[in-house]
Amino acid sequence: MFAEIENGENGETLKDIEEEIRNCKKCELWKSKTNYVPGEGREDARIVFIGEAPGREEDKQGRPFVGNAGKLLNELLESIGLKREDVFIGNVLKCRPPNNRDPKPEEIEACSPYLIRQLNVIKPDVIVCLGRHSASFIFDLFGLEFRGISRERGEVRKVRAWDKDVFIIPVYHPAAALYKPPLKEVLKRDFEKIGNLLKLKRKTPTLSDFGFKS
Ligand code: URA
Ligand code: SF4
Repeated sequence: MFAEIENGENGETLKDIEEEIRNCKKCELWKSKTNYVPGEGREDARIVFIGEAPGREEDKQGRPFVGNAGKLLNELLESIGLKREDVFIGNVLKCRPPNNRDPKPEEIEACSPYLIRQLNVIKPDVIVCLGRHSASFIFDLFGLEFRGISRERGEVRKVRAWDKDVFIIPVYHPAAALYKPPLKEVLKRDFEKIGNLLKLKRKTPTLSDFGFKS
């Protein structure tokens, strides 16, 4: 099982990966979970949204972002003309940590190869990191230095992957905006940026023209 960003095709599908996840016992979390939450969405999505781990409602339903944070995510997607069906939504961990505690490093190490393989199948143009755990993992994966979510949020990074330019943008976790309402405005503005990024990606990839970081 490979666990790095790889170019080319290896015939793997999201369904294959999902099936493996549903039999996984690579870390302790399988014991306490109700359902695995492999993630869902289009295999040919241009944009993916990556959260941290399933919460209570996700664990119950086996689907990502279906609780209160998910409702806010749906609203934010709609605000930039996207529906859940247009994108891929997933998490770094596929099983819920008890009481939504932070993921342990060994859990991320055990589970993240699934996410990496999902990304290698989808080969998205844009990766949106929802919250600091997701952002710190994705930054690591692409060899970027992560300076904390409040400094990185809303900043677009450009990396090379899958023989093309790929944009990474971290935002606050929707759940954080539910706890701290002022963050919701920031999140909305960052989503506007994501909407522009998608339009831009359709026309031209020269982000530096617009003052974005690479
Ligand atoms: N929070 C996450 O990070 N992921 C989910 O799927 C739900 C809530
Ligand atoms: Fe397997 Fe990931 Fe669940 Fe751990 S969290 S048991 S690695 S699917």
